[in-house]
Amino acid sequence: MKKDLLGIGDLTEDEIHLVLDTAEAMREIAQRPIKKVPTLRGKTVVNLFYEPSTRTRTSFEIAEKRLSADTLNIAVAVSSVVKGETLADTARNIEAMAPDMIVIRHASSGAPHLLSRICRSRIINAGDGMHEHPTQALLDAFTIREHKKKIDGLKVTIVGDLLHSRVLRSNVLLLTRLGAEVWVSGPPTLVPVGLERHGVHVSSSIDEAVADADVVMMLRIQQERMHGAFFPSLREYFFTFGMTKARVARAKPDVIIMHPGPMNRGVEIDSEVADGPYSVILEQVANGVAVRMAVLYLLAGGSEED
Ligand code: CP
Repeated sequence: MKKDLLGIGDLTEDEIHLVLDTAEAMREIAQRPIKKVPTLRGKTVVNLFYEPSTRTRTSFEIAEKRLSADTLNIAVAVSSVVKGETLADTARNIEAMAPDMIVIRHASSGAPHLLSRICRSRIINAGDGMHEHPTQALLDAFTIREHKKKIDGLKVTIVGDLLHSRVLRSNVLLLTRLGAEVWVSGPPTLVPVGLERHGVHVSSSIDEAVADADVVMMLRIQQERMHGAFFPSLREYFFTFGMTKARVARAKPDVIIMHPGPMNRGVEIDSEVADGPYSVILEQVANGVAVRMAVLYLLAGGSEED
């Protein structure tokens, strides 16, 4: 593995499989009465989240604690960031305290790459702006592989706010690399230019995109990143692109429904689907811990044979 995990491009195909295989082993630890191993004893991990997070921050912290790392969370709202300290200065000051790894989420694309250039600590991207969210794509791949026993050849349909989604970008890179046939659908105003160049099928018809899909992944409407009107109303969005039981019926009978969270119920996904029999949304969350344990372990120098 490279020093840092900044994006899916940092991983070879073999390394992606290594992360997923290692996560299988890590998941077993969660079944034990004492959910802790000494693997990262003596290592210090700093979680530096400049944007809100429930799943990613919590699962990184649980993963770090299960591996016995010394872990601490920097609450940006009560740090010197509010006094105007720059990201680079914050990073240099954290680095001066000699952590082994820094997990960073930031609203600016490229923030983890800046840290990578100025820090000796290993940097893990926990989501940077509209750019990438590599550990989300890895846990999504882990969940798909668990259900379908493969990724190669599957039709994976991703629907929603494609333009603002770092989850989309990391998933497209990872799933096409592993041989999935990736389809996307969303309002034309929310489809990034040039997606087809990544080998993705783009359709303005959700019904075409979902037809015979093995996996349907819904993406959140990211209103916090929208400066303007991208569609007439949330009601109309749900009517045109919301995932309903009727639309799920167009996919394969054993389709799985995914969502990275947080969900806008009644906007991109009906509660009947989110809580229904095809939904693996909470499994994605559970798998996030095992996948993040695997990433932390492998970046710290572990190998599958250990
Ligand atoms: N999927 C995801 O990144 O969720 P959080 O924003 O809650 O971390």
